[in-house]
Amino acid sequence: MIYGLTNSKGGVGKTTIAVHLAAWLVKKKRSVIFIDADPQSSASQWIKELALPIQLEQIDSPEEIIHRLAKLAGDANDIVIDGPAGLSATTRAIMLRADRVFFPCGPSILDLRAASKAVQLLREAQKTRKGKPEGLLIPNKLQKRGRLSREMMNAAKKLGVDVTAGVCLRQSFADSAGQAKVVWQMGAGALLASLEMQQLMKDMTRG
Ligand SMILES: Nc1ncnc2c1ncn2[C@@H]1O[C@H](COP(=O)(O)OP(=O)(O)O)[C@@H](O)[C@H]1O
Ligand SMILES: [Mg+2]
Repeated sequence: MIYGLTNSKGGVGKTTIAVHLAAWLVKKKRSVIFIDADPQSSASQWIKELALPIQLEQIDSPEEIIHRLAKLAGDANDIVIDGPAGLSATTRAIMLRADRVFFPCGPSILDLRAASKAVQLLREAQKTRKGKPEGLLIPNKLQKRGRLSREMMNAAKKLGVDVTAGVCLRQSFADSAGQAKVVWQMGAGALLASLEMQQLMKDMTRG
């Protein structure tokens, strides 16, 4: 499976969720390649410091993503791509190669509107690829009970993408990169974060 984390906005949790997904897949005994496609390469250091068997590749040119992914796909069970913010050619390239694309999104209507631009790119990719990739919205940084308000759910429904389990705004998520860990390695203080992230991982990797 090729998983891509993209969105038009930065700071919505793409890197945090991508790194957790790669670590989760390793925990599930999958061989994993992590592609840091963000020129800011904030995921790369974190992945290196995790010291897990994850092959790290830094590929941020759209041409390279298109060409090298076909080959890399034969080298591992799964590929996780951490995309840049914005609707660049790199984001388009990810949508042309991924099986499943995730849009982490903040819990406001403004965040959803920004995500809708990424969903437009998704539709274009789906047209040329007979329905692929699958798109999933991930509500992140929720402040209440881990769910979107009814209003937000309706707006998400209008976008026509499925919505995964939500993730709350929690200090443990913000601390995880600095501790060079994923939340299920952070002990009892990160229990709620850990349960929440593992539920999200199940939603992301289902079927
Ligand atoms: N659920 C969350 N709770 C608290 N902080 C979060 C959460 N998700 C992400 N963050 C923090 O928000 C910032 C942006 O997240 P990041 O994963 O780097 O987003 P992106 O890759 O989309 O720019 C980081 O400081 C990260 O630690
Ligand atoms: Mg990032």
